[in-house]
Amino acid sequence: MTATDASTQAEIPPARPTRPPDGTAPTGTDPSPFVSFTSADRFATVGEIYEEARRALPPQVWDFLDGGSGGEQTLRANLSSFERWSVLPRLMTGAGEPDLACAFLGIELSMPVLTSPFGADRLLHRDGQLAVARANAKAGVASIVPEAGSYSWEEVATAAPGAARMAQLHPMGNPANFAAMLRRAAAAGFSALCLTLDCPTAGWRERNMRNRFDVAVDVVSGNYPHAGPADLADTLGQLFVRREPIWTWDELAGRMADSPLPWMAKGILTGSDAEAAVLAGAAAVLVSNHGGRQLDTVPAALDQLPEVVAAVGGRVPIALDSGIRRGSDVVKALALGADVVVIGRAAAMALAAGGEEGVGRLHELLREEISTTIKLLGASGVDELTDTMIRPSAVSRW
Ligand SMILES: Cc1cc2nc3c(=O)[nH]c(=O)nc-3n(C[C@H](O)[C@H](O)[C@H](O)COP(=O)(O)O)c2cc1C
Repeated sequence: MTATDASTQAEIPPARPTRPPDGTAPTGTDPSPFVSFTSADRFATVGEIYEEARRALPPQVWDFLDGGSGGEQTLRANLSSFERWSVLPRLMTGAGEPDLACAFLGIELSMPVLTSPFGADRLLHRDGQLAVARANAKAGVASIVPEAGSYSWEEVATAAPGAARMAQLHPMGNPANFAAMLRRAAAAGFSALCLTLDCPTAGWRERNMRNRFDVAVDVVSGNYPHAGPADLADTLGQLFVRREPIWTWDELAGRMADSPLPWMAKGILTGSDAEAAVLAGAAAVLVSNHGGRQLDTVPAALDQLPEVVAAVGGRVPIALDSGIRRGSDVVKALALGADVVVIGRAAAMALAAGGEEGVGRLHELLREEISTTIKLLGASGVDELTDTMIRPSAVSRW
């Protein structure tokens, strides 16, 4: 029974204070005993955060953020994949208030969510990843801080040491710079690394082409403030120059052998690459298609999750990104075997819509929806979510 159903039953004494007949929030000091769907907050839903981000950003920056690569088949698949799975509740389970806390690579989280390493962050809000990390620290969420960000790893770590726990790096470019960056991340206080493996060159971004839009070097060079374009080609390598060969798993394993920090392999979509990543020494894998921004027409990350879970066989923890837009998406990813999710555009949109406050509000909405979904499923926490609670939607079996 929903709060609204309850309030219409004649035999139940009216709540104190009663909701005015026009449906607006009660004004008395007595709190309503019902779940309230009215909020004094500027953003009542994640959808409103998106609408505000669209209003706030210049159209070409909106396209850069919202868009994908090629014909955007993968971008669309990421979103529709969540609707191809249905959850199955268990009734009368005796479950208590859902416990959302967990740990990932030794990082304590108040809910199973990290924010993604999205670079060029100052295009979205002047405080970029500083604001994201501050909001994350307040919410008990961790940041994956990008190499190609507008602020340096150190600046973000200083702004919010409790949240800036993973540093993201592209395994490409000059190996000496790569080795120096591994040491630099450890010195800045990060506890793990995220290596982006699916980005040996930038994706085919048609919205940017149509808009004649290039990201300015200064918004991606927070970690390399003194580097000119030629030096950046050495560090962010093929993102800019597109000439170097892609590193091999063996080269990666060799260059990570002395890493002071454990690392997560970002961009895994197949069981065989998950296996290769684990053999190369990855301490976690992130099932991801880069939010549909790299190779277009690859499958939705969620649809590849069961294959990766089977290949990994519990040897390392698994994260998932690409398409998470609401709390029930998080629950579905966990039920299919992810340990945590990583949110990209949702966090970036919240940053654009309202800076630190916007990201904080997004976390509140995610947390509440995750909690509500878990409770309605009859579970008592994220640990209890399993594949017995999810199955392909009827429509996807036709
Ligand atoms: C504006 C923007 C910039 C990004 N920059 C990076 C980056 O520098 N490095 C990286 O590994 N991923 C980058 N990503 C990809 C995200 O880390 C993440 O994989 C993706 O956004 C997840 O999908 P979602 O947006 O559907 O949540 C970027 C994503 C966006 C939207």
